Amino acid sequence: MKAIVYNSYGDINSLEITEINEPRPSSNEVVVKIRAISLNPVDLKKMSGGFKLITNVKKFPKTMGCDFSGEIIEIGKDVGAFKVGDNVFGMTDILFAGSAAEKIKISQKSIALAPKNISLEDSAAIPQVANTSLLALRNLASIRQGHKLLINGASGGVGTIALQIASIYEAKTTAVTSYRNIDWIKESFKTENVIDYTKDDFTNLDEKYDIIFDVNGNKSFLEVEKCLTSNGVYVTTKNNVFNQIDFVKQFIKRKKSKVVLSGKSTTSSLDMFRMWIEDGKLKPIIEKTYSFDEFKKAYEYLSTGRAKGKLILTI
Ligand SMILES: NC(=O)c1ccc[n+]([C@@H]2O[C@H](COP(=O)([O-])OP(=O)(O)OC[C@H]3O[C@@H](n4cnc5c(N)ncnc54)[C@H](OP(=O)(O)O)[C@@H]3O)[C@@H](O)[C@H]2O)c1
Repeated sequence: MKAIVYNSYGDINSLEITEINEPRPSSNEVVVKIRAISLNPVDLKKMSGGFKLITNVKKFPKTMGCDFSGEIIEIGKDVGAFKVGDNVFGMTDILFAGSAAEKIKISQKSIALAPKNISLEDSAAIPQVANTSLLALRNLASIRQGHKLLINGASGGVGTIALQIASIYEAKTTAVTSYRNIDWIKESFKTENVIDYTKDDFTNLDEKYDIIFDVNGNKSFLEVEKCLTSNGVYVTTKNNVFNQIDFVKQFIKRKKSKVVLSGKSTTSSLDMFRMWIEDGKLKPIIEKTYSFDEFKKAYEYLSTGRAKGKLILTI
């Protein structure tokens, strides 16, 4: 079967479509015939060797992708929650597996039935960004009604879902984006408070927030500290050494600085996303859908950092 793989760490030119072995499910796994995947910046980091100290340096080929949607075509002997023919969505382990293939095997604990009111292709846009946003806002920042929240990087894959989750929790959100997306953000997400980062640096404005979710990851805790209320929480997607040092310093001072890394998808969180989608509270935001053969074009666009919402690749 075909898959998008790389045989050495490098740039997008190191990607190719090649034949790999068919997946064989273990007792708790299912085999999914992939309909679509969505692209995430972490795919590019993985491809360039950004995680090679953690992952197996020598084991190639490695398959791209993480998010997926598709149909179950085979189940392991202990799989009880799903059956052949079910349409499902989910994400593979970010570091050690990939979804950009005609078929994948995956644990039954990492998938859920796909939402019925959107296309199966579009449901591939949800898992990783929704997981990241939920972890950041609910688990780490304890978001609640009336909270003042700032999302730095509101127009990309994570930001457009975080905006919607904030609205589900009835927080008052300020979106930081550029002039390219201001009108679109205001219209699509009914968000009046929008800051154009090309004109204003929010850390220099006289506003305080209960939560600052730094999706773009270009602000350190020390830069944003003055914009937080006394119990304010800063959550960033960047898990670098500087943020870890900040974290320890703030822990000692009993203030909060937290780092979010996208966790594994679980059936219960995916079930919640499906319910929100079917209730009309959450929708995938997709800028472009590409065909399998257009994978280089798709990853090239992702690498510009200009995507509005998600990019989908149909398999
Ligand atoms: N995808 C995930 O679930 C996930 C999980 C963990 C960590 N992360 C990390 O989180 C970051 C964002 O992920 P993503 O999927 O949202 O990326 P993305 O979709 O590629 O983000 C693109 C968006 O970022 C905006 N942007 C670019 N520069 C900005 C700046 N200086 N300030 C504010 N916004 C800016 C762009 O808007 P303009 O065109 O208006 O500039 C564009 O709409 C990445 O570093 C990623 O590695 C992501």
